[in-house]
Amino acid sequence: MLPLSPLRTGPDGASGRFLTRKNLTMNQNLTEGPPDWDSLPLAALTDHIVETHHAFCRRELPRLDAMLKTAADQHGRRYPALRHIYALFTKMSRDLYMHLLKEEETLFPYISQVEENLRQNLPVGWPRFGTVENPIRLLVEDHDHTGNELNAIRRLSNNFTPPSSAAESDGSADPDFATLFDALQAFERDMREHIHAENDLLFPRAIALEEAACGGKKPSAP
Ligand SMILES: [Fe+2]
Ligand SMILES: [Fe+2]
Repeated sequence: MLPLSPLRTGPDGASGRFLTRKNLTMNQNLTEGPPDWDSLPLAALTDHIVETHHAFCRRELPRLDAMLKTAADQHGRRYPALRHIYALFTKMSRDLYMHLLKEEETLFPYISQVEENLRQNLPVGWPRFGTVENPIRLLVEDHDHTGNELNAIRRLSNNFTPPSSAAESDGSADPDFATLFDALQAFERDMREHIHAENDLLFPRAIALEEAACGGKKPSAP
């Protein structure tokens, strides 16, 4: 698995479970090294995901969409794969905007609330989606879907390799293709890191947190 983007933690990282988000932010610049997410509050992880990966998506999706449109318009007749990549990316992009909103408006606030209530020893009210496992199941399906679309884009772009027939006279890659494929590859890399942070770090801990908060008395699926 790809590592998470480094986020520096404070000197009291060992007792990070009780760090507030504000303290975490204040301490980020004090020491080196990646955070130990297992010992930090889930709210710090969701903040990190929103501030890095979601922000990256919102910045790169429109930029890449415009680059792909230009490339497909200019070179699509000669390189039909560009049109397929553009169509796939546009659909993936539409789905991703919805996906980010579902996480930011529903799941992440609920996780923070459960965590805070548990910390304060307060009861946790059942969310309208029943249990956290329900939205997580749907979000993992979305991730699988996005992963398949990224695989298809990688295949169609020949592993992000500019076509040799589009090379410059000195043999170097056409700068339009090189810039586009580099940006697509960077997007894929960040997206896989993003999915790993949610599927493998956030979601299992969120399920365990809810179990701990509700003492195993889960409602049935709505
Ligand atoms: Fe996300
Ligand atoms: Fe996600």
